[in-house]
Amino acid sequence: MAPVIQPTGDSKFESLVDKTCKEDYALHPEQELRFEVEKGEYAKIQVLEGNAELFGTELIKQKPYFFNGGKGYGIFTWSSCKVRITGKTESAYISKDTPMVQYLNVSFAIEGLRKKAEEREDQVDNQGNPLDARGPRVMVVGGTDVGKTTLCRLLLNYGVRLGRRPVFIDLDVGQQSIGIPGSIGALMVERPADPVEGFDMKAPIVYHYGHTTPNANFKLYSALITRIQDLYNNKCHYNQKVHHSGCVINTCGWVNRKGYDTLLETAKTFEADVVLCLDAERLYQDLVRDLPDFVNIMLLKKSPGVLTRSKEQRREAREALIREYYDGPRGQFFPHSFDVPFDNIDIFKIGTPSLPNSALPIGTTMGDTETKLMSVAPSTDIMNHILAVSRAETVEEELTETNVSGFVVVKAVDEERRVMTVKSPAPHPLIGRYMLLSTLRYMD
Ligand SMILES: Nc1ncnc2c1ncn2[C@@H]1O[C@H](COP(=O)(O)OP(=O)(O)OP(=O)(O)O)[C@@H](O)[C@H]1O
Ligand SMILES: [Mg+2]
Repeated sequence: MAPVIQPTGDSKFESLVDKTCKEDYALHPEQELRFEVEKGEYAKIQVLEGNAELFGTELIKQKPYFFNGGKGYGIFTWSSCKVRITGKTESAYISKDTPMVQYLNVSFAIEGLRKKAEEREDQVDNQGNPLDARGPRVMVVGGTDVGKTTLCRLLLNYGVRLGRRPVFIDLDVGQQSIGIPGSIGALMVERPADPVEGFDMKAPIVYHYGHTTPNANFKLYSALITRIQDLYNNKCHYNQKVHHSGCVINTCGWVNRKGYDTLLETAKTFEADVVLCLDAERLYQDLVRDLPDFVNIMLLKKSPGVLTRSKEQRREAREALIREYYDGPRGQFFPHSFDVPFDNIDIFKIGTPSLPNSALPIGTTMGDTETKLMSVAPSTDIMNHILAVSRAETVEEELTETNVSGFVVVKAVDEERRVMTVKSPAPHPLIGRYMLLSTLRYMD
């Protein structure tokens, strides 16, 4: 369900910028200009001189980039540069306190592992068995708001700039950056992220999960991780370049108790050989103790530029991610609204309601019910809920583990006429009969 894009030139944004606010910033080598645009405003960024990059994407000199509020940005230079910001900002300052040298060294180390993987291709061991030519499987872990997603983007950008085809796997169901919150996704990265719009999302593989934390349904979360790992292995099997390039896996910021167990399980499932632990010494020590010896675990610094968000701001950030899915990062998509007859669809929910063990049939546990499909009759109860449109063609296919083509939101339900109105990124008709109900709701 690819979105329909409105032809908006940059002129639309130019007129939204407050020209009375303009400032030039001169950056020395290894300095970063950090800024946050005021909420509801647009700011124009231009590199006037020198070389600069934003989270690993090179910025083109003189080209205007239009950013809106809600996120933090860091423009970094290895040499020096002059940057102009036109428009209202919440904050804008130059800092020389960045972990970029450390991150660049990590990126070089990962590239070294890719080269070694390439060298192993077509080689055999003493017994004549082919050597494993798999590239590095890098997992990024850490608490919330430490810059995990940004580090993934940086490593992927550096990888692709070296001619690699790394796969990005985002397992963070709360602040998901490939699908929408409540899903997990994988994406082969073929070009650096656009500074404003991020990675090109033309062909992601996305799975519905339906909650914002792994502890809402561990069994389903684990099953999906295994599924996405199988898919990745399969891709590696057919595409040598992807195989050598390895992957970068983003994880949830929940790192205590069961969250920690989930990280260990993820590392095991993917056979991660590099784990980058951001700003969490205790977590790092625990991982060193619990992960096998072949895993290279590194403790990395957090950038002081990373924004810290309250619970309420995290909820707003989640809503903003859903809004971006429908409207585009800068409102350039054109979402559709249309009626869907009840007879054309079947809605399911994954997992039956939790019951005390005493209420379950003898010999069963709650775990048995966590991945069960339950039919849901369309009613006003599902108003504003997100529905994932499954790619499954028959209900016999494993619906819980089939990827989805996209997500719609239920905007109205007319039980008498037996139709519901949905908001969709793509025009009518829906390409799929089977829908999975998310606990997430979205109201625009
Ligand atoms: N160097 C930087 N300068 C300015 N802003 C930054 C910098 N690094 C990250 N940010 C911003 O800080 C915010 C949080 O960063 P990020 O999303 O990478 O953290 P995270 O650990 O993935 O958070 P979460 O736990 O919510 O997934 C984002 O808006 C990001 O753009
Ligand atoms: Mg994140």
